[in-house]
Amino acid sequence: MTKERTFVMIKPDAVQRGLVGEIIRRFEQKGTKIVAMKLVSVSRELAEKHYEIHKGKPFFEPTVKYIMSAPVVAMVLEGNDIIEMVRTMIGKTDPMKAEMGTIRGDFCQFIGRNLVHGSDGSDTAEFEISLWFKPEEISKYTKIDERWLQE
Ligand code: RTP
Ligand code: MG
Repeated sequence: MTKERTFVMIKPDAVQRGLVGEIIRRFEQKGTKIVAMKLVSVSRELAEKHYEIHKGKPFFEPTVKYIMSAPVVAMVLEGNDIIEMVRTMIGKTDPMKAEMGTIRGDFCQFIGRNLVHGSDGSDTAEFEISLWFKPEEISKYTKIDERWLQE
């Protein structure tokens, strides 16, 4: 197990559909630790940097417009193998292919309105966390359930 951090974005459709609490509830109930969180109205510059890996693809511009269309909730979660855990909880990119029980499987229908983002690897996580948060916005603390979540 590797202790790591991941970047999570609760996207504009989730904010507009009142699913912020439900999504955070799932991460909390799994036992994940929130170390940073804020509501952000995303600028074009930030949106384009966040999705720069997809520049040139047909869905780049619609995806940039999507995350600028209403505020998002930006978060950093910390824990053992948290990058993969969050991706598993979110489900496949296309919600029609995402398993029931995942966030996308349970609450949405279209790839261009898929509610939530999670970093897809350790390099991406590091890049995205530093893009969205200043170091002083990330808290260091002990969460009292930590010793009950592992042997
Ligand atoms: P995300 O980055 O948002 O967590 O999603 P992901 O890793 O599951 O998928 P990724 O391939 O990184 O795609 C980023 C976002 O672009 C939109 N997309 N649309 N129309 C399409 O074919 C298409 N493909 C991707 C989605 O909003 C996707 O989450
Ligand atoms: Mg991605």
